[in-house]
Amino acid sequence: MSRARPRRILITGGNAGLGLALAQRLARDHKLLLSGRKSQIAVDGSLPRGAGYIVADQADPEMSTQALVRGIRDFGWDRLDNAVLNAGIGIAPGEGFDSTDAIRNTLDVNLTAAILQAQALFPLLEKSRGTLTFIGSVAHAGSATVPAYAASKAGLHGLARALRSEWKGRVSVQILHPGPARTGMHDKAGYDPGRLRALFLKADDMAAMMASAIASGRSPATLSFGRYLGLGAVLGRRL
Ligand SMILES: NC(=O)c1ccc[n+]([C@@H]2O[C@H](COP(=O)([O-])OP(=O)(O)OC[C@H]3O[C@@H](n4cnc5c(N)ncnc54)[C@H](OP(=O)(O)O)[C@@H]3O)[C@@H](O)[C@H]2O)c1
Repeated sequence: MSRARPRRILITGGNAGLGLALAQRLARDHKLLLSGRKSQIAVDGSLPRGAGYIVADQADPEMSTQALVRGIRDFGWDRLDNAVLNAGIGIAPGEGFDSTDAIRNTLDVNLTAAILQAQALFPLLEKSRGTLTFIGSVAHAGSATVPAYAASKAGLHGLARALRSEWKGRVSVQILHPGPARTGMHDKAGYDPGRLRALFLKADDMAAMMASAIASGRSPATLSFGRYLGLGAVLGRRL
């Protein structure tokens, strides 16, 4: 993708982990608006220069979607070139089953909020014939340790397929399924990957693959260690 025109890019969950790594990678060439659950004060000094920030806690999908739309308008944007719906949580149930609260929270943050955001952002993306990118997970195909998380990502996969067909010619839709990456997510989830952690990709390397997959528009796209070794992020298209 040409570097000539800076794009207006929204990244949810842009204050940490993969979202922040993606934002840092794109900040030089594009205009960024990031969102997260933390307060503005808590993220001050840690975001790329010039990036806007919206507090939107997706545990309440409706309120957070309203906050997101209001924040975009207050930032002075009337359109989006890209929206990357990346915010997400995982909760590992340990030996037992997830509690009902944990299941609801996982589905609200990862899936219900993304459905409402997609609907609310459609008019802004349509004005630019933009691209909506969902961040799924390789766990969407099933993962023994995090069933509710896997279900939320499988839901996103179905949602992306439906919207890709419904919005064809108006807004491009894609879903990316990252494999394991070194962020704070696993600790927050209460999941210890043990020695496997050494095989996890660095957040910045995963972000490079995400940027390249967004530029290519392909969907679904699995972003794995194997693909990384195939140099897709280095030799592929640039956003
Ligand atoms: N890391 C991996 O191995 C991996 C693998 C496959 C897929 N993914 C997916 O990649 C995405 C990013 O994960 P990550 O590894 O970067 O995790 P992370 O480091 O824990 O970051 C998660 C991001 O989501 C935001 N978030 C969490 N709960 C939220 C809520 N209730 N409302 C609004 N924002 C919320 C966080 O904001 P706050 O900091 O403000 O809470 C943070 O910006 C997720 O969708 C995850 O499922 C990650």
